[in-house]
Order: sequence, then structure tokens, then C-alpha cells
Amino acid sequence: MSSMKVIRSRYSFVILLIFVSAVIKANADYFKCPKASLCYGKLIECPKGCPSAYSKNKNAKVCNVNCDSHSCKPHCKHTKPNCDGPGSACHDPRFIGGDGIVFYFHGKSNENFSLVSDSSLQINGRFIGHRPAGRGRDFTWIQALGILFNYHKFSLEATKAATWSSEVDHLKFSYNGEDLVVPEGALSVWYSPEKDVKVERVAEKNTVIVTLKGSAEIMINVVPVTKEDNRIHNYSLPAGDCFTHLEVQFKFFALSPTVDGVLGRTYRPDFENPVQTGVAMPVLGGEDEYRTNSLLSAYCSTCLFSLESGSNKETTSGTKSGVLLDCTHGAFAGYGIICKK
Ligand SMILES: *[C@@H]1O[C@H](CO)[C@@H](O)[C@H](O)[C@H]1NC(C)=O
Ligand SMILES: *[C@@H]1O[C@H](CO)[C@@H](O)[C@H](O)[C@H]1NC(C)=O
Repeated sequence: MSSMKVIRSRYSFVILLIFVSAVIKANADYFKCPKASLCYGKLIECPKGCPSAYSKNKNAKVCNVNCDSHSCKPHCKHTKPNCDGPGSACHDPRFIGGDGIVFYFHGKSNENFSLVSDSSLQINGRFIGHRPAGRGRDFTWIQALGILFNYHKFSLEATKAATWSSEVDHLKFSYNGEDLVVPEGALSVWYSPEKDVKVERVAEKNTVIVTLKGSAEIMINVVPVTKEDNRIHNYSLPAGDCFTHLEVQFKFFALSPTVDGVLGRTYRPDFENPVQTGVAMPVLGGEDEYRTNSLLSAYCSTCLFSLESGSNKETTSGTKSGVLLDCTHGAFAGYGIICKK
């Protein structure tokens, strides 16, 4: 009787050991794809250059797998936006265009602007900010992104906070008008029902990658305006708000040659950047052309997004006139688009 017990407990000890070593291995150098994906259940070993799928170091590359590819191959990638790389929008918004040229677009506090507008993709940014007494313009930051893609409306925002804590998640999401919860935790993933929008947490909190299938990948990180920034730039921020905002870097896979938007236009093959080289803080204007009347509106005077081309993948010529103003289609109803009669 007692020897039986010993055998049994030895047996379970061995099982426990195997289990523990498997868990350790899985954390160290295997990538696990989520349940709903094609590569679910496969043992995918991370490359030597990035042995871990998760890193606390902002600049480190981590192991990643496109879990919906048939190859299920791992690769190394940066998970945080590189604010010095093309396609970035960080700080008081400092953009780096598709052409690699740095420019500032200040917009206005509490207003929304078209950052990228193409026939099948619209990305707006909501700006927050502050204007110290006696100053001619607001200091601004990008607080939220609103995305129109394949009939979907997706938004992501940095939640307001009096003081910053990296122990708190400051991300809030919505999908087609409903709040969306993406549980905290590295490698937590949400897919839209059609699998064309993916939100992937790449750190426990405050950092995600949003993938719009075949169209764009957006790396997003939430940060505050620090006391140091406040001092160096003399923002004179009021107490009680740390102006949490987004650091963003976009990668685009399918822009048309007529793409517009504050950042989008810099991806046009024929774009001639009006920024003069040698200017310390080149500012691009165009507030009136890019202003939208809500975070998820596709209407502005330079906006190109149209639901038709957004839903079927045909490349349209993206003509500016007509696309958004035709309100005869029922599909536009309730979409937050203003119809000019
Ligand atoms: C900082 O801004 C305040 C106004 O908000 C102004 O009075 C002050 O002169 C500025 N300081 C510097 C060093 O520019
Ligand atoms: C910007 O968008 C938000 C959310 O859609 C809206 O509440 C706000 O009124 C907009 N701001 C302006 C100035 O239109």
C-alpha cells in the first residue's frame, strides 16, 4: 500500500518535471499562436536573433509569427513604434513621411484630422492639447485613432490620467460602435469576426500592433508628456493631466498613388514635400483640408475613402469628387458621413 503511494508520487513528480520544462521552454523560445489561427497548436521555435516573443526593452526585436500564414514561420520584428522611422507620428505631433522627411502638423486641440485617406482606408487622429496664455497656437498630441476599413469602424484611444503609471493600461478600443476589450497581457490577441482586423498586445499594457489585413500594420504605444518634456519644451501644462497620447508607426501595403491625409500624402509617388530642408521645425499646414467632424468620419475636403471600394478590393482611381458625397446608397446611412446636397 505504502510502496504504491511512493510509485505514484514518483510518477507524478516526473510528469510534473516534464510539464514544468515544457512551460519553461514555451516561454523561452517557442511561439504559441492563438486558438482561432491557422498555426494554432504548432511548435514554432523562435530564431536565435530574437529568442523571446516578448521583451521589456523598447528597442529589442521579438519573435513573431504570422499565425494566419500557411508557412507558420517565425521572424524577428520590432514591436514598438520607431519614432525616428518613416511612417511615424509621435511627440507634439512630429511626423516622418513615407518620403523620410520630418514635419510637424499641429492641428488643434480637441479636433479630428485625416491622417491617411485612400479609397479603401481612412485613418483619422484626434488631437488633444493645451494653449498657455498668450500663445498663438495649441501644443497638441495625438490621443486617438479612428479607422474605417472594410465596412468596419475601429477606434483606439489613450485614456486620460492625472499622473502616469506604467502599471495601468491606458488603452481603450471600440469596434463598430461597441466597446471592445482586449485583455491585458503580452500576446493577448483579438480578431474581428471576418479576421481582417487584428489587435495584438505586445506588452502587458499600453502597447499594441493593429493589423488591417492586406492594408496596413500600425504599431502603437501609449505615453504621457513627462515633466522633463514639459520643462524642455515649455509646454506649461496644467496640473492634474499628464496628456497621455499615442506614439504611432504605420506600415502600408496597399496605398493608391492618390492617397491623401496629413501623413498619407507623403506616400504619393509624385509628392513634392513643401518642407524646406534646413528648417529646424518644418510645419505643414492644411488644417481646413484635413479636418473631419468626428474621429470616425470619412468626410473632409481631401478625403477619398469610399465604402464601395473599401469593401471590394478593386483599385479605384480614387477621384476626389463624388465619392463621399453620394448619399443615395443606403449603406452610408448612420456612417457619420455628412452629405452635401
Ligand atoms: C514659457 O512659457 C511661458 C508662458 O506659458 C512664458 O511666460 C515664458 O516666458 C516661457 N519661457 C521660456 C523660457 O520661453
Ligand atoms: C472629434 O471627434 C470626437 C469623437 O468622434 C467628437 O466627440 C468631437 O466632437 C470631435 N471634435 C470636433 C471639433 O469635431
